[in-house]
Amino acid sequence: MLIDTHSHIYSEEFDDDRSDALKRAKEAGVGKIILPNIDSSSIERLSALAITDTNYFYVANGLHPTSVNADFKRELDAVFSESTFDSLPNIVAIGEIGMDLYWDDTYLKEQMEVFDYQLSYAKDKNFPVIIHCRNAFSNIMDVMSAYKDSGLTGVFHCFSEDYEAANRVIGMGFYIGVGGVLTYKKSTLPEVVAKVPLASILLETDSPYLAPVPHRGKRNEPAFVSCVAEKLSSLLELDYGKVCEITSENAKKLFRIAQ
Ligand code: NI
Repeated sequence: MLIDTHSHIYSEEFDDDRSDALKRAKEAGVGKIILPNIDSSSIERLSALAITDTNYFYVANGLHPTSVNADFKRELDAVFSESTFDSLPNIVAIGEIGMDLYWDDTYLKEQMEVFDYQLSYAKDKNFPVIIHCRNAFSNIMDVMSAYKDSGLTGVFHCFSEDYEAANRVIGMGFYIGVGGVLTYKKSTLPEVVAKVPLASILLETDSPYLAPVPHRGKRNEPAFVSCVAEKLSSLLELDYGKVCEITSENAKKLFRIAQ
């Protein structure tokens, strides 16, 4: 079995063929999908999908850094309200949260404050976190330094830093989320991932984004996590089934999924 630990298949990009995409996922061996939230506007569609099969879909609730602006307090209140948590089944993590300074650093301070709030919430309620980190590794580390030895754990989804950063992340007890970028020709990720213990790796798609080769440039979907597993299998010269088994066990351990 494979677990896609990061998919936005509840998003409107799948409104025309979501059930077909899910069928393809199951045919490709994807046994579970983690659905990370974006902001208050995505909760209803996330919940509507997650509720259809609570042995298949697992939910992360949180506020994505690109949805943070001057009005962030209202957004945080909505995402972290009791009624939001009540409406979402199977919550296994807080996510996706973090910082994104790639397009715009206008709300750098606000992003840091919102990230810190969500880390603190996750720590208090004993949830792992799903971290989105784009052009912001040092800022993320600054905010996270306050949580050192707090028992907080999670995954750096779509990990894109170097080996030294990977070591720091793993040293903190966090996992490295690996997706389509692993299959890209010019990517430096394979060198990093080859040196990281498999026990610290989770597989993901981030669908609809970042489709792996040979689907690069098209819409990504959970079935394509098998392409990432294949690439990892050849990179590590390890049996495909073993890669699926170990990475799925890692995901179950982090998100405390029993079966
Ligand atoms: Ni995402």
